[in-house]
Amino acid sequence: MAKLLSLLIMFILFIFFFFFFFTPTLSCPPECQKQALLQFASLANFTDDELKSWNSSSDGCLFPFVECSSSNVVEIHLGDVSPWRRPWGVLTSTVLTPLFHIRTLTYLDLSYNGIRGELPRDGFANLSKLVELDLSGNNFNGSLPSLLFQLRFLQVLDMEDNSFHGNIPPEIGNMTKLSGLGFGNNNFFGEIPTSIVSLKELRALGLSSNSLSLEIPIDFGNLSNIRLLDLSYNSLTGTIPSSIQNLTELYYLDFRNNLLSGEFPSCGLEGKIPDWISTQKTLGYLDLSENQLEGMFPQWLAEMNVSSINLSDNRLTGSLPPQLFGSNLHLLSLSRNNFYGKLPDISNATGLVALMLDGNNFSGKLPKFISNIDLFLLDLSNNKFSSNTLPDFSSNEDLRIIDLSSNEFSGEISTNFSQKTLFLSLGKNKFSSFPRNLTHMSNLKYLGIHDNKITGELSNSICQISTLHILILRNNSLQGSIPDCIFNLTSLQILDLSTNHLVGKIPTNLGNLTGMIETPGEIFSFGHFYNLENEVLDLLGFWNKAKRVLSFNTHDLIVNWKMSIQGLSFDNLKGYSLLDLSMNQLSGEIPASLGCLKALKIFNISHNNLFGRIPANLGDLENLESLDLSHNNLSGSIPQSIAKLLQLTIFYVSNNKLKGKIPEGSQMDTMNDPNSYANNSGLCGMQIQVPCSEHLSPTKPPELKSKETWFSWEGVEIGYAVGFFVAVGISYLSNPCKTFNYCSQQRRQRV
Ligand SMILES: *[C@@H]1O[C@H](CO)[C@@H](O)[C@H](O)[C@H]1NC(C)=O
Ligand SMILES: *[C@@H]1O[C@H](CO)[C@@H](O)[C@H](O)[C@H]1NC(C)=O
Ligand SMILES: *[C@@H]1O[C@H](CO)[C@@H](O)[C@H](O)[C@H]1NC(C)=O
Ligand SMILES: *[C@@H]1O[C@H](CO)[C@@H](O)[C@H](O)[C@H]1NC(C)=O
Ligand SMILES: *[C@@H]1O[C@H](CO)[C@@H](O)[C@H](O)[C@H]1NC(C)=O
Ligand SMILES: *[C@@H]1O[C@H](CO)[C@@H](O)[C@H](O)[C@H]1NC(C)=O
Ligand SMILES: *[C@@H]1O[C@H](CO)[C@@H](O)[C@H](O)[C@H]1NC(C)=O
Ligand SMILES: *[C@@H]1O[C@H](CO)[C@@H](O)[C@H](O)[C@H]1NC(C)=O
Ligand SMILES: *[C@@H]1O[C@H](CO)[C@@H](O)[C@H](O)[C@H]1NC(C)=O
Ligand SMILES: *[C@@H]1O[C@H](CO)[C@@H](O)[C@H](O)[C@H]1NC(C)=O
Ligand SMILES: *[C@@H]1O[C@H](CO)[C@@H](O)[C@H](O)[C@H]1NC(C)=O
Ligand SMILES: *[C@@H]1O[C@H](CO)[C@@H](O)[C@H](O)[C@H]1NC(C)=O
Repeated sequence: MAKLLSLLIMFILFIFFFFFFFTPTLSCPPECQKQALLQFASLANFTDDELKSWNSSSDGCLFPFVECSSSNVVEIHLGDVSPWRRPWGVLTSTVLTPLFHIRTLTYLDLSYNGIRGELPRDGFANLSKLVELDLSGNNFNGSLPSLLFQLRFLQVLDMEDNSFHGNIPPEIGNMTKLSGLGFGNNNFFGEIPTSIVSLKELRALGLSSNSLSLEIPIDFGNLSNIRLLDLSYNSLTGTIPSSIQNLTELYYLDFRNNLLSGEFPSCGLEGKIPDWISTQKTLGYLDLSENQLEGMFPQWLAEMNVSSINLSDNRLTGSLPPQLFGSNLHLLSLSRNNFYGKLPDISNATGLVALMLDGNNFSGKLPKFISNIDLFLLDLSNNKFSSNTLPDFSSNEDLRIIDLSSNEFSGEISTNFSQKTLFLSLGKNKFSSFPRNLTHMSNLKYLGIHDNKITGELSNSICQISTLHILILRNNSLQGSIPDCIFNLTSLQILDLSTNHLVGKIPTNLGNLTGMIETPGEIFSFGHFYNLENEVLDLLGFWNKAKRVLSFNTHDLIVNWKMSIQGLSFDNLKGYSLLDLSMNQLSGEIPASLGCLKALKIFNISHNNLFGRIPANLGDLENLESLDLSHNNLSGSIPQSIAKLLQLTIFYVSNNKLKGKIPEGSQMDTMNDPNSYANNSGLCGMQIQVPCSEHLSPTKPPELKSKETWFSWEGVEIGYAVGFFVAVGISYLSNPCKTFNYCSQQRRQRV
């Protein structure tokens, strides 16, 4: 049997060599094609069942994924053969070599297979009949073989998502049949060859995400059939050639993130709308963002009925033409330009889903009719909008993201927002009172009303938005105490009430906020966020692009991060938790229950009137990076347990009544800035170079060898055993982190 098999194999090899070496004719008949396929299969190490049937006992034309015409192999469809991709890059480009014998091939798809290495230099001349070649999504590197550009029948050449480098050679202009050319996401550099404009059949050209430089060929407008043109993410310079106005079939135009400058190409300068505009019915997506374009919003563009326009991050100026807001407009992003003036009447823009005008100089009131539009996202932040009444947003049913921060709005905050709102940012305005009734906002995850002039008490109604993850009310004039019901906000992972006039105690049940106990996950999974059944936005992967725009824009997460006010990106929020109650008039003791909030990274209660001892269980806040207790009336010693905080880089206790030895060991040894400890009642230790005399050192705490020391209190100046019982007693009576069970349960869950 084995002998038979090896005989068979020898026979096969014989046939193989026969055809390849003894008939070195230009032709490769069907049997030779089959052998080429088998050799390919063996190099490619086919393992899954379907591909195993590529074997010598069957006809090559019967192999799955192979198409024949008159017994000759003409098509190979092997895109995304998943077993090849594991482990990544196991296939090398030599796998292609046998295929160069199949000169009848018109279609070859080997996309997304993780093939690596350089393309064989001299094989492609054989594949002169190729019409479609798809090698996208592999790991090919090196430059493109010049023979590739002699394939004159090629209509589709897709090399996207590889690591090709080098120039795009001028010979590309010889492939006059090309209708689709994908070179995006590679490392091509140099200029776009002028010869490319002679590809009269070209309908899609993708060159994005390379390092292409210099100017866009001036006669780009000669590509008269182009529908999709993506030159984004390169280093193209100069102006956008005015000839692009001749591209009458254009649907998708993406020039974002280049170094393009100068005036927006415009024929309307003489007040004359050129004829070509009337023929431009098809442009659907225009992205020229992240360039250096100047000038006004072109009137011709406003009248073109484009559904998605992104011109963000340019230097455009002037006011917006009212014609822009037609019924076909779905997305408009003009973020970070120099536009000014009032928002025109947009009531005709009934299809508008996302309106992003942030970072301009728009002024005036928000038009009432904004509520009639079924928006999903409204970002008007960083402008000069003003008014003392906001429009009623409650009828904007789908409005999920509202950012009106950094404007000049004043007066009471209308509570009329959609029940679906997830993100409401009203910070940096002049609002004077807190929304009274937030009961129906049952989806809200982010509420930012920081830096306003809000007075009055923090309403209990805040406790009803139990979905809140982030609540930022910093820098207002809030009075009264922090409501006890705050424990209801179980998802809260960022709470910033700093710089207000809050009085009373820190509620002990803050220690129950699960969002600060467990390492938080994604707050906004953008996946579910954008899962709108909106086909319009699904076009051409547009939604993916919009996501990038959106995540860039909803950036109002500004907190006091390690002593400087910083904006956090929503992408960073995973695993991030903060509690800032600083700069108020809070009094009472620091609740020991706060030691339960193990996910906390920043804890700031400085500049209050807190007294009593520092609870030892703050040493359980194992993720803490910054702890600020300064400017209070805290007494006793600094608990040794603080030395357990291995992530700690900021530790401020100045301006208190602390005494005794500053704990030593691990991170504490690096906290040696004397200012962090200044103005206390007798701290000593090597950090401040004050030697401790014997009697000043704190009583040895119960050894910190086990994690169960959560209940210990430092400096209990009685016998160890008595201290133990007293401590347990205290924590059961007054410590809601009762939580012995509670805390240790959390601990167990995480193990
Ligand atoms: C072929 O595939 C099998 C199973 O996936 C693997 O174990 C083997 O190492 C591969 N051989 C080569 C030469 O890649
Ligand atoms: C060869 O492929 C055929 C189907 O094309 C299949 O029936 C046969 O079992 C395969 N032989 C081997 C040895 O895998
Ligand atoms: C091109 O095809 C011929 C005939 O099948 C073959 O002899 C030759 O080796 C092929 N060239 C390459 C580079 O594979
Ligand atoms: C291509 O990648 C291979 C490894 O996959 C490497 O050995 C080779 O040097 C690379 N060639 C170029 C031109 O970068
Ligand atoms: C191919 O393109 C090059 C450079 O653009 C040109 O010099 C050459 O004549 C072209 N060849 C053919 C066959 O068109
Ligand atoms: C573009 O088209 C114009 C007019 O049809 C022609 O004069 C010009 O030579 C073309 N440019 C290129 C680079 O082919
Ligand atoms: C647009 O095409 C016409 C006809 O081919 C040509 O005369 C004109 O110069 C082109 N316009 C621009 C701006 O290139
Ligand atoms: C705008 O385009 C839409 C469809 O793309 C069409 O229904 C509508 O009539 C156009 N409006 C104008 C004013 O051209
Ligand atoms: C809204 O559309 C109607 C009908 O097309 C038009 O008469 C009116 O001027 C438009 N309003 C604005 C503000 O553009
Ligand atoms: C709060 O708002 C809800 C819904 O808008 C309403 O039903 C309720 O009566 C309001 N409650 C108060 C106290 O105003
Ligand atoms: C706690 O939140 C729920 C909604 O999850 C709400 O029904 C309830 O009234 C809230 N309790 C308090 C005390 O605010
Ligand atoms: C805190 O959580 C514990 C355990 O879930 C619970 O028994 C206790 O009542 C909670 N405290 C408050 C004030 O909700």
